[in-house]
Amino acid sequence: MSRESQGVVARSKGEPVGLETIRIPDPAAGEAVVRVQACGVCHTDLHYRDGAITDDYPFLLGHEAAGVVEEIGDGVDGLAVGDYVVLAWRAPCGTCRSCTRGRPWYCFDSRNAAQPMTLADGTPLSPALGIGAFTEHTLVAAGQAVRVDPAAQPEAAGLIGCGVMAGWGAAVNTGGVRRGDTVAVFGCGGVGDAAIAGAVMAGARKVIAVDLDPRKLRWASEFGATDVINAREQDPVEAIRELTDGFGVDVAIEAVGLPQTYRQAFDARDLAGTLVQVGVPDPSMQIELPMIDLFGKGGALKSSWYGDCLPGRDFPLLVDAYLRGQLDLDRFVSETIGLGDVEEAFAKMERGEVLRSVVVLP
Ligand SMILES: NC(=O)c1ccc[n+]([C@@H]2O[C@H](COP(=O)([O-])OP(=O)(O)OC[C@H]3O[C@@H](n4cnc5c(N)ncnc54)[C@H](O)[C@@H]3O)[C@@H](O)[C@H]2O)c1
Ligand SMILES: [Zn+2]
Ligand SMILES: [Zn+2]
Repeated sequence: MSRESQGVVARSKGEPVGLETIRIPDPAAGEAVVRVQACGVCHTDLHYRDGAITDDYPFLLGHEAAGVVEEIGDGVDGLAVGDYVVLAWRAPCGTCRSCTRGRPWYCFDSRNAAQPMTLADGTPLSPALGIGAFTEHTLVAAGQAVRVDPAAQPEAAGLIGCGVMAGWGAAVNTGGVRRGDTVAVFGCGGVGDAAIAGAVMAGARKVIAVDLDPRKLRWASEFGATDVINAREQDPVEAIRELTDGFGVDVAIEAVGLPQTYRQAFDARDLAGTLVQVGVPDPSMQIELPMIDLFGKGGALKSSWYGDCLPGRDFPLLVDAYLRGQLDLDRFVSETIGLGDVEEAFAKMERGEVLRSVVVLP
């Protein structure tokens, strides 16, 4: 007996998303059905709607979710009905060329449910980032469901499933921010603010927030940014140099996804500094860099996929940090909304009114 749920579907490029009836198959071997309790609206969902990720419409959106395991297929170890979980868009396979070399955080063959969820007429859905959680029930590979402490409420815990993990991990795992480092974060949305929170937790001495929106910069300060720069009013590269004795930062994190912010992050580094790209570019974007600076500045230019996280290791760690008061997940939740409000939440995101709108299901 398959399940029917309401789900938020993007039908074609740029078209407003809407609620549709979807079918969720019973879990086959290695799969689990999760009853979604909360799912945050991430900018990547908007990228999907706009065709900036792939053209595999229709998409079932939503990928920042917490919920309860409702049913499991055969052969599932370490997960039981009733478990409280955060969904991960990477479930390392253990056997690909990256996993076998001991780098499961890059896993090139991450596990997803093998069976498709479909529209009522049987059309297969492409679930955003292999999850698809703007719906009452979703089907995932069991390894995507990561058990965490149920004391953390779902609207906070779910955010760890994407934006918070991506930003926090970009600073701590990919950027390797250490005690005493100077850090700049370009773009202070949910992802950038999580990078700020991560840099603060790692002991950075200075954390400089750059955005175009004064409201975003105010929120960035609340996450622990020591200095803020409005790039509409000041050249951020010059301002960062002034704040760092003329040198630039040890770690510059790009959390927008634009060539100009990438270039600013590139130029804002100290010698041997690290640039971490988290922002997802549009496939049409190009960047040109002076080769002499690539060499002369040294350091590292890195991209961060999912904060180089291991969900099974890092999700419980971040939930515990939240429960101990070290990571303020509640501060990311600008509003809670219903399943029918996702399109309006995209508009609010574009207008800069929210850090995270979080869909809460009854
Ligand atoms: N790499 C990953 O694994 C991963 C995971 C999740 C999200 N992302 C990506 O990270 C990016 C940020 O996501 P988000 O949910 O925080 O988005 P968001 O829209 O909430 O935040 C983007 C922020 O950038 C600011 N901004 C825009 N143009 C700017 C400019 N020229 N200079 C400075 N700031 C500028 C905006 O004002 C906004 O505050 C997106 O591209 C998203 O797709 C990447
Ligand atoms: Zn693998
Ligand atoms: Zn996301």
